[in-house]
Amino acid sequence: MNRHFIRFPDKGLDADSVITELKAHRSGDASWRNGRMFGYIYHPGNREAKAIEQAYQLFLNENALNPSLFSSLRHLENEVVAMVADLLHAGNGFAGNLTTGGSESILVAVKTERDWARNHKPEKREPEIIAPVTIHPAFSKAADMTGVRARYAPVNEDKRVNVAEVEKLINRNTIAITASAPCFPYGVIDPVEELAALALKHDLLFHVDSCLGGLMLAFIESLGFKVPPFDFRVRGVTSISADVHKYGYSAKGASAIIYHSHELRKFQYFVISSWPGGLYGSPTMLGTRSGAPIAAGWAALKTIGRDGYMKMAEAVMKTTRFIQEGIESTPGLKVIGKPVMSVFSFTSDRHDIYRIGDELSRRGWNLDKLQFPPALHMTVSFDNTGHEGEFLEALKESVAVVDGQKIKTASSHVLASVVKALSRFLPEKWFRKLSARFTAIMNRDEGGGAATGAAAYGMMVAIDNRENVDEIMLDVLDKLYTV
Ligand SMILES: Cc1ncc(COP(=O)(O)O)c(C=O)c1O
Repeated sequence: MNRHFIRFPDKGLDADSVITELKAHRSGDASWRNGRMFGYIYHPGNREAKAIEQAYQLFLNENALNPSLFSSLRHLENEVVAMVADLLHAGNGFAGNLTTGGSESILVAVKTERDWARNHKPEKREPEIIAPVTIHPAFSKAADMTGVRARYAPVNEDKRVNVAEVEKLINRNTIAITASAPCFPYGVIDPVEELAALALKHDLLFHVDSCLGGLMLAFIESLGFKVPPFDFRVRGVTSISADVHKYGYSAKGASAIIYHSHELRKFQYFVISSWPGGLYGSPTMLGTRSGAPIAAGWAALKTIGRDGYMKMAEAVMKTTRFIQEGIESTPGLKVIGKPVMSVFSFTSDRHDIYRIGDELSRRGWNLDKLQFPPALHMTVSFDNTGHEGEFLEALKESVAVVDGQKIKTASSHVLASVVKALSRFLPEKWFRKLSARFTAIMNRDEGGGAATGAAAYGMMVAIDNRENVDEIMLDVLDKLYTV
C-alpha cells in the first residue's frame, strides 16, 4: 500500500481545528511580513488591505459566470477595466475584461490575435507571433496552448529588443508582435514606438505586456521619472495587459486585458449557441469565476486612489534607487541595464552570484535567480520600503562570506563544468539518472539546506542541452506536486 495515501476525511472537523491546522501548515512558509520578500507579495499597508480583504470576503460566494444574476460584479469589472484603461490612456473605443492574472490575460490576448487573423488574414494558415527573448513565459505558454508559433528576437546590450531582428522575423505567417513594459528579468521597456511602427507597416496586431508595470509606470511618470512611451498613446498598440494584483496591490486573481477596440475584443470571446444546456458564452478562459478578486480589485483602486498610488510609488522608487546605488557601489556587483521602475537584477563578474543569493536567503531575504547571465532579481514593492538599509547590510555580509569562500565557489564551477561536459555525451538513460539526482538536491534544498541551491542552479544553467534541463524541471515539478 502507498504509505503516502491520504484518505478523504470521514468526519468533518470544527472550523477552529481546521484553521489551527491551516495555520500550522503556513508556519513553515517563507515570511513576507518583515519586508524581506521581493516579488510574489504586494501589500499596500494595513488600512488599505482591510478594505480589500472585506471586499474579497463580501463577494466570496458570488459567481461572475452569470453577469445577469450578479450584475454588481459586471459593473465592478467594467469599472476596474475603465479605471486601468484611463491610466493607460486608452481612447474612447477601448474594451476589456478582468482575468485571474497576467498569464490568463496574455493567453486571451494571444487567442484574440489568432482568431482575428483567422478572420482577417485567412491566408496565414500557420500563424506566428514575435516577441523578445525576455518576454514572460506566460507568452510562450499562451502560444503553446493556442497552437500559434512563437518566434523570439534577441535583445541589445541594453536588454531591449533589437527592432531590426524583429523585422527580420516577420514573414507571411506573422500575425502579431509583443513587447514588455517592462520585462520581468531586467525591468527595461522595449522600444514600443518603433515596434508599433513596424506593426502598422506590416498590418500586424501589437500587444504590450505591462502586467508588471501597468499600475506603476503612470504614477512614476507623474512623479517626474522618465518613462519611455509604452501605452495606448502609441499609435499601433492594439492591446495591453496590466495586473491589478501586482502594483495595483490587490488580492491575487486580478489582471486587466484591454483592447483598443470592441471589434478586436470580440475575438477573445467564446460563445456556443448549440449546446443542449443552453446558450453559453464566456469572455475569458474561465467558466465559473470568483467574484472576490473582482470586488477586491475595485476596492483597491478606490481606497488607494491616485494620491495613494503616487505616495507608494514615490516610496518604492526611493527604496529602489537606494538599493541600486548600494549594489553599484559594492565592488564586483552591477545592476543590469537601465531599469525604468522598481524591477531589476544584478550580477557579478567577481563572485558566485548564486551563492550570494543563498547567503541572503539564509538571512531571510528572498531573491529569485536569473540565468544568462547568472543574476539575482528584485521586484521592490511597498512592503519593502523602509527595509532598504537592512537589505544592504545583509548584502554586504553575504558578499563578505562569499569572498572568503573562494574554494567552495570554485568547486561549484568545477561541478558545473563536469555536468556540462557529461551532458554532451551521456546516454539518455544516464542523464535521466542525473536528473533524478537533481530532483533530490532540489528537494533537500527545499528542506532548508540552502547551501545546495547555488550549486544545483549553477549546474542547471551550465548545461548546454536545454532539453535535458526541461526534463529535470519536469521531474522536479512532478515531485513537488506529489503527496
Ligand atoms: C512581465 C510579466 N508578464 C506576465 C506575468 C505573469 O503574471 P501572473 O504570474 O500573474 O500570471 C508576469 C509575472 O511576474 C510578469 O512579470
